[in-house]
Amino acid sequence: MHPIFPQETFLPAKVLFKKGGLSDLAKETVELGTRGMIVHGTSLEKDNLKEKIADDFKKAGLSIEFFCRPQGEPTLDEISSVIAKGQGLKIEWIVGIGGGSVLDLAKAAAGLFHAKEKPVYYQEGGALERPGIPFVAVPTTAGSGSEASLNSVIINPEKKVKLSIRHKDFLARKVLLDPDLLRGLPFAVMCHSGMDAWVQAYESFISKNATWFSENFALKAIQLISRHLVPALNAGRDEDLSGLMLGSFFSGVAFSHSRLGVIHGLAHPLGVLYNVPHGLICSVCFAPSIKLNLEAMGNQKYSIMSQAVGMDLLQKIHELQKTLKIVSPFKGKPLLDKEKIISETLHSGSTAANPKPVTRDDVEYLLREIF
Ligand SMILES: [Fe+2]
Repeated sequence: MHPIFPQETFLPAKVLFKKGGLSDLAKETVELGTRGMIVHGTSLEKDNLKEKIADDFKKAGLSIEFFCRPQGEPTLDEISSVIAKGQGLKIEWIVGIGGGSVLDLAKAAAGLFHAKEKPVYYQEGGALERPGIPFVAVPTTAGSGSEASLNSVIINPEKKVKLSIRHKDFLARKVLLDPDLLRGLPFAVMCHSGMDAWVQAYESFISKNATWFSENFALKAIQLISRHLVPALNAGRDEDLSGLMLGSFFSGVAFSHSRLGVIHGLAHPLGVLYNVPHGLICSVCFAPSIKLNLEAMGNQKYSIMSQAVGMDLLQKIHELQKTLKIVSPFKGKPLLDKEKIISETLHSGSTAANPKPVTRDDVEYLLREIF
């Protein structure tokens, strides 16, 4: 029988969904301790946001330090840098304000704050001895769902691999969803991160670990993102930004309880080798994955998703890619390290949740479709 409920649920203790909610951040953080660090990306430099936040925390009587990270995906060494800086300051909590990379870094640094070993030990499956310090997530993109998930995706530059560090204590203590933070995002960032959230919701919906609980979050995410992504990109109205932000959060809640699928298994090695935006890789694998999984997911799931997007799902994806001018960044490029890509895809925890058991031939099919 199809399970209704996961064995265990992972939901942040408090989710504040509020336009302009960023101004409540200091108030929400007070109970976690008086000293903390805000890990952020370049988005915080705009509109004097950083100064406003510093002022709010000062008024609340909290001592804070900022850690600005460059663009690109976080590495193991970067986690150690945040922890070293935080330990020097005796911080009690970490807030991440940014896109998926910022949140993943802040989450891993908070989660491993009291860890005995270096981050690589936990990325390679070592057990975490004790919990870290509280993590508060403030997403500024609608995409990764990191604010709702238990894992941080981190690059090991030496081994050229991108793997999750995953632990239930990594879950954000609080999540602040402020749709105003999506305003003014560059087109490509909003487009790729929105597609990532959609693909995550799709992979969660058809995952072999799906439950009624995860499916409902996934389906609502599919509906919200398909309805609001293009209008949000074009006009940035409040209702579209809110829909997109909630869709991304629901996508994160869904896949935290079901894992993902072969698209994410393949996107990680490709992302490291070609340095292409994660959401773009997911977008171009979307239609081929549906064709691959059609029989395994069953007609019912396909038609439920089609209903949620208001038309045939494959046709919708095709039209959307045309509208958003999404083309494969791999076309015409040589396929590097094919064996490494295939091996990592087949051994990925995401691939393990794919409804069709994935074979080498299946990965080769996906690669042929996108290269
Ligand atoms: Fe993703």
